[in-house]
Amino acid sequence: MGLSKIDPNVDFAYIMTPEGMVKRKVDESPTPDKVAERLEKAGVTKRYEHASFSVMKELPEAKTAVKVAQEWVESPLTDRGFFFVGTPGVGKTFLAVAALRAKIEQGLLNARFINVPLFLDELRSSFKFSDDSVQAEFQFLCSRASVVVLDDFGKERATDWATERLYVLVESRYSAMLPTIVTSNRTLDELNDLGYGATVSRLTEMGPVVKVGGSDLRPKIGRA
Ligand SMILES: Nc1ncnc2c1ncn2[C@@H]1O[C@H](COP(=O)(O)OP(=O)(O)O)[C@@H](O)[C@H]1O
Ligand SMILES: [Mg+2]
Repeated sequence: MGLSKIDPNVDFAYIMTPEGMVKRKVDESPTPDKVAERLEKAGVTKRYEHASFSVMKELPEAKTAVKVAQEWVESPLTDRGFFFVGTPGVGKTFLAVAALRAKIEQGLLNARFINVPLFLDELRSSFKFSDDSVQAEFQFLCSRASVVVLDDFGKERATDWATERLYVLVESRYSAMLPTIVTSNRTLDELNDLGYGATVSRLTEMGPVVKVGGSDLRPKIGRA
């Protein structure tokens, strides 16, 4: 009896009751330490570990993006995510992490955050050094991670190999109805021209594309 967690990929467990197996949310209010641990395990780096809607500064040109991210948090987990485009430093990654954190605070398990160019680098060298763990992680991203944030999509050199790996990842999640969140410094037209057309097409079916406007926040932060 008790918790019998037969689906580790979503924030639900199946609990045996006198009426049979019932799907219930688990761990609805993880402690702050647990949230931090799960964010780190998801792959969120130190730079963004603090990012949350509660510490977020209000940026007028990110208003729509904030609304979309918060609506995503408040909705049940489906195949839907969102796609933030905009120039560097406007707050795309911050908002994606804030949304992921909020979902983890609700009890989400097995989420992943990857910086696309860095992950593809790791994947590429994993073949050279026969490191199966990165390849296993790629499989996890394709078919099991509850939510995947693809940060800086399109920043990698768009080789046939890179565009194909990303197609495989997105197509797998699209087919399995698993949500994906994307940030990119490139416009959709640029991504199409680089050979990501089929990938972008799937992503646009799975959630809204939002342009985050504004100027680069990083020099201001650096001066403060
Ligand atoms: N709404 C916000 N409130 C406070 N800090 C922010 C906010 N948005 C972004 N930042 C900070 O500004 C810097 C750039 O944001 P980031 O999300 O990395 O931009 P992008 O992903 O668009 O390049 C980061 O240090 C980030 O923590
Ligand atoms: Mg970013």
